[in-house]
Amino acid sequence: MPEAHAITAIQMMPDALTVVWNDGQRARFPALWLRDSRAEDRDPHSGQRLVDVADLPDEPRIRAARAANGGLELEFEGESSASHYAGEWLREHARAAAERRPELGTNLWPNGAGRDAPHDHAWLEYAAFSAAPERRLHWLTRLAQDGIAFLAGVPSREGAILEACAQMGRVAETNYGLLFEVRSVARPENLAYSDHGLGLHTDNPYREPVPGFQALHVLVSSPDGGESLFADGLAIAGHLRSTEPEAFAVLTSTPVPFQYRSADADLYAERPLIQLSADGRITAVHYNNRSIAPLPPSSTTLAAFYPAYRRFARLLREPRFQMRRHMGDGELVVFDNQRTLHGRTAFSSQRHPRHLQGCYLTRDSVYSEIGLLRRRLGDDRP
Ligand SMILES: [Fe+2]
Repeated sequence: MPEAHAITAIQMMPDALTVVWNDGQRARFPALWLRDSRAEDRDPHSGQRLVDVADLPDEPRIRAARAANGGLELEFEGESSASHYAGEWLREHARAAAERRPELGTNLWPNGAGRDAPHDHAWLEYAAFSAAPERRLHWLTRLAQDGIAFLAGVPSREGAILEACAQMGRVAETNYGLLFEVRSVARPENLAYSDHGLGLHTDNPYREPVPGFQALHVLVSSPDGGESLFADGLAIAGHLRSTEPEAFAVLTSTPVPFQYRSADADLYAERPLIQLSADGRITAVHYNNRSIAPLPPSSTTLAAFYPAYRRFARLLREPRFQMRRHMGDGELVVFDNQRTLHGRTAFSSQRHPRHLQGCYLTRDSVYSEIGLLRRRLGDDRP
């Protein structure tokens, strides 16, 4: 079968090769990259690599190159066997990761107060979400980009959240079980299970890994109080970075202890409140005033940490960052628990019972579901 993106011309140098496809697109590939990417060095069934980078020549040089069957055939100096590359495969890898995987893009929403969930975020009736994979793919992609998405019309029955989440990824079981009940109980082990208002927070920073996504399904809403609050932690951390860089630097470099103890769990982890990637991008926010453990009193960084910590806590209280929604029965929200902070206003369970069910999804499984859907819908083309 002819390749959709066939190679029609090549320009060869010993240390690099420029490829031109039949639609005029071109890309340059270094010889070292090509030598490390030989199809012959991968298992034909699994596609996994059979060689280790230590086995490669230090400076591979291209001796000969020709376009063949829409792909590329190369010979390297000092080697007898030819190397082959499909035109489609090279095309795929010439594209930037963000272009290949739009779910890796980020839409920041610093102005939470100005947002209306049904209009400004992915919002879909559950029946359409379940029946139409292309709409599910769009919804999940928006979930990844915005860090939050909503469903309506999820049946208000116990356990329905697990059926909905099975279409998004894998539910992670914790000491709370596969799902947890958010309703008031006497003597709660967690203040989430009380009438208290809850300030903006992320869940379970005491776990390793921290739950990737969280889902909350409203079975019985409270007509007064119990309003849900959401804010974009990446946007708030970005605001701190640009306005108070010293405080930001302290929060990205101070390990903070978190813990949770109950009859059947003893959980402890340390992590900075704002997490950076190796190249300095803000990748996660962890904030939970209920489960932060005492910092070591002897710590030399305590004096610098507290003002920055307090500054961040005050930013989280600023209404301008907060999207508010009084979620109704059958609404289900999913959010990135390492980015989107959530909270609620107080309510009175004596006057009106309020009942939500929640669960966590592993981070990688949600991204995997997006990739699988894209593949299934034939959208996974260069
Ligand atoms: Fe929570």
